[in-house]
Amino acid sequence: MTDTVEAQASLEAILKDEIINMYQEVAENPEGEFHFYHGRPAAEMFGYRADRLSRAPAASVASFAGVGNPHERSEMQPGETVLDLGSGAGLDAIIASWAVGPSGKVIGIDLTRVRSAVVPEFQFRKGDTQNSAEAFGVKAVMMTALKPAD
Ligand SMILES: C[S@@+](CC[C@H](N)C(=O)[O-])C[C@H]1O[C@@H](n2cnc3c(N)ncnc32)[C@H](O)[C@@H]1O
Repeated sequence: MTDTVEAQASLEAILKDEIINMYQEVAENPEGEFHFYHGRPAAEMFGYRADRLSRAPAASVASFAGVGNPHERSEMQPGETVLDLGSGAGLDAIIASWAVGPSGKVIGIDLTRVRSAVVPEFQFRKGDTQNSAEAFGVKAVMMTALKPAD
């Protein structure tokens, strides 16, 4: 391995640790200070519907750390499989589980083992999204919190 490749690998490992610590913290102590918007105020700012925020488990709303709202345009249908890459405390996965219903499923993948709610359609797997979807045994893919190109 060259020095550059080694340095890159070392930086990536440091960054990944920081990501894990930060999102673990927002999940466990959502009332703390963070450099990003989070919780219900953030979800409201991104246009999450009030009825969904009231229906979702309070912990997943309080620890919400998304950067956008994928639900208004995603058109998820009953029976579909959704892969939520970076599912965090699970608000997006839970809202997706309502859309796909009992005949569908939502698989959430996150570096942190954080899941604030259990719903039958939502399966959580601890993992790195840098692995391919096939590595998680799924064919349908949705990536949350990405802003579609205009
Ligand atoms: C913007 S937050 C997602 C918030 C989530 N959609 C919600 O409903 O609260 C991003 C998440 O991606 C996770 N993450 C970042 N890099 C990752 C990676 N390489 N593999 C898996 N998860 C990752 C973080 O741990 C964090 O929970």
